[in-house]
Amino acid sequence: MSTKDFITTEDYTKEEISYIVDLSLNIKQSIKNGFYPQLLKNKSLGMIFQQSSTRTRVSFETAMEQLGGHAEYLAPGQIQLGGHETIEDTSRVLSRLVDILMARVERHHSVNDLATHATIPVINGMSDYNHPTQEIGDLTTMIEHLPAGKKIEDCKVAFIGDATQVCFSLGLIATKMGMDFVQFGPEGFQLNEDHKEKLQKNIDVSGGSFTVTDDVEAIVGADFVYTDVWYGLYEAELSEEERLNVFYPKYQVNQELMDKAGKNAKFMHCLPATRGEEVTDEVMDGPNSICFDEAENRLTSIRGILVYLMDKYAANHPVDLAKQAEAKAELEKFLGKPL
Ligand code: CP
Repeated sequence: MSTKDFITTEDYTKEEISYIVDLSLNIKQSIKNGFYPQLLKNKSLGMIFQQSSTRTRVSFETAMEQLGGHAEYLAPGQIQLGGHETIEDTSRVLSRLVDILMARVERHHSVNDLATHATIPVINGMSDYNHPTQEIGDLTTMIEHLPAGKKIEDCKVAFIGDATQVCFSLGLIATKMGMDFVQFGPEGFQLNEDHKEKLQKNIDVSGGSFTVTDDVEAIVGADFVYTDVWYGLYEAELSEEERLNVFYPKYQVNQELMDKAGKNAKFMHCLPATRGEEVTDEVMDGPNSICFDEAENRLTSIRGILVYLMDKYAANHPVDLAKQAEAKAELEKFLGKPL
């Protein structure tokens, strides 16, 4: 996969990821202080959604508008991906109409196919495999909430519950940065061998560790406790009765579980949450919850990802200034007035 795209953080080095986080935090600071850098002026983003979204959609739209560009929402069912029109043709057409694409897809191969055939950068806005923009937002949030005296590679993050794509993604970004990652979840709902191989690949480069277990003792000492819904993915979706049977009460993030991790452990959730299932109100609304900072940092990190990809694309496609001036002169001549 070409790194013109942002499909998985597996394609990026620790240094590149750190740069994107630093860039995101710099732009965040600038905007918080009232300066909106027009880094995406005249750029258009096409946003393909095969599923609904609040945070991802609003973050991409807001990021484009704040940075001087424009986003176009293509709702579930509004355009086909691999139906009457092939993904290849859709990619080729959209590459001529917009400057950058994002896609939230049901199947990971769809966003891979889009990226392969598009000549512009493509961003994975979540698939059944991973959620890489969430990863950058989560890392940004952990860095903003580092325990005193610790670096990110000194930290431990524990994911509680089902091995969703968000769980795997958290494992990818944690091990990419050299952190200790734990999934505490029931047998049958744990990261699989393919996931583990990929986490190990990161650990071989960056250090850190991963543990997949149904033993709650593994979460002791976690700096960050993270959970996601218990619904399962697509055709594996569980009924309420099934998910309560599998996960409740052992894997619910309640105050007792937070205390087990440690009194300073921070609570994270990609959201949306099913309050009363995977997390209690007491934890989600409690003083150690950083899940709403995390939601805000979807916007923070998406700004950074967009700017990073467009800068890289521009470096590979430099504008010929002489030709630009010539074209402007031709247009002025045609219109009979200066532009
Ligand atoms: N966390 C996340 O991706 O939220 P949305 O589904 O609302 O985009």
